Amino acid sequence: MRKKIVAGNWKMNNGLIQTETLISELKQQIKTSDAEVMIAPAFTNLWHAFEATRQYPIEVVAQNMHYAENGAYTGEINAGMLKSIGIQTVILGHSERRAYYNETDEALAKKVDTALNHDMSVIFCFGEELADRKAGNHEVIVQEQIEKALFHLDASAFENIVLAYEPVWAIGTGETASPQQAQDMHAFIRKVLANKYGQDTANSVSILYGGSVKPNNAKEIFSKPDVDGGLIGGASLKAEDFFAIVNAF
Ligand code: PGA
Repeated sequence: MRKKIVAGNWKMNNGLIQTETLISELKQQIKTSDAEVMIAPAFTNLWHAFEATRQYPIEVVAQNMHYAENGAYTGEINAGMLKSIGIQTVILGHSERRAYYNETDEALAKKVDTALNHDMSVIFCFGEELADRKAGNHEVIVQEQIEKALFHLDASAFENIVLAYEPVWAIGTGETASPQQAQDMHAFIRKVLANKYGQDTANSVSILYGGSVKPNNAKEIFSKPDVDGGLIGGASLKAEDFFAIVNAF
C-alpha cells in the first residue's frame, strides 16, 4: 500500500534558534499518525534537525541538492554531503527552484539519477502555471515534466520516488486547487504512470498535493482517493497548523 506523507517545506525560513524552537514544539505534539511526517529545514540546520529528531517519527529531508558528485560548484551541496549527516530524502524540482534558478527538466533528470544512485529517496515536484491552467494545458505540461525528468527510469526506481503535484498558481498565494482539481490531476498522473509502467507501479506511488494546504482545507483534500498527502509550505512553519494538517488524515 502506498504511504501517506505530510512534508513541511520550510524554504528559506528559520535560523538555528527558530529551528530548535519549532522542532521542540513538533516533538511535544507528535503522536502516532497514519501519515509519515517529514520536515525540510534549510541546509545550515539539517544536521541539528537530524540530531534533534533522532528518537522521533519525524524524517528530516533536504530541499535541494546538486547532481554532480563533487567539484567546483561554489555554494552547492551534493548527495554525499547530505548522506554523511544522515539525510535520506531530497525534494527536487520545486517550482521556486525551476523559476528562480533555471532548473530544467534535463538538470532534474540528472539530480534524480544522482539521488537514486546514492540510495536516497526523492520527493519530485512539478505543476503547471496559471496561464497553462487557463489555456487548458495543465495536463500536457504536467505529463511533460514527469516524462522528461523521470521516464528514463525503470519501474523499480519508483519505490524511492514520491511525486508532489504543486500547481504554481496555488503556492504561497492562499489559493488552493479545489479538492476535485487535485483529485483529477492526481488520477491523471496515475494514468500517465500506468501507461508507461503498468497499473501496479502507478498504484504504489504516493502522490502529494502542495499549494496553500491549511488546517481548514487539508481534510477535504486528503479525503480524495488519489491524494496521498501534502507538501506544506507556509503552514509548516507553525507546529500547531502543521499538526492540524498531519492529523487531517
Ligand atoms: P505553500 O507552499 O503551502 O506555502 O503554498 C507549498 C510548497 O511550496 O511546497
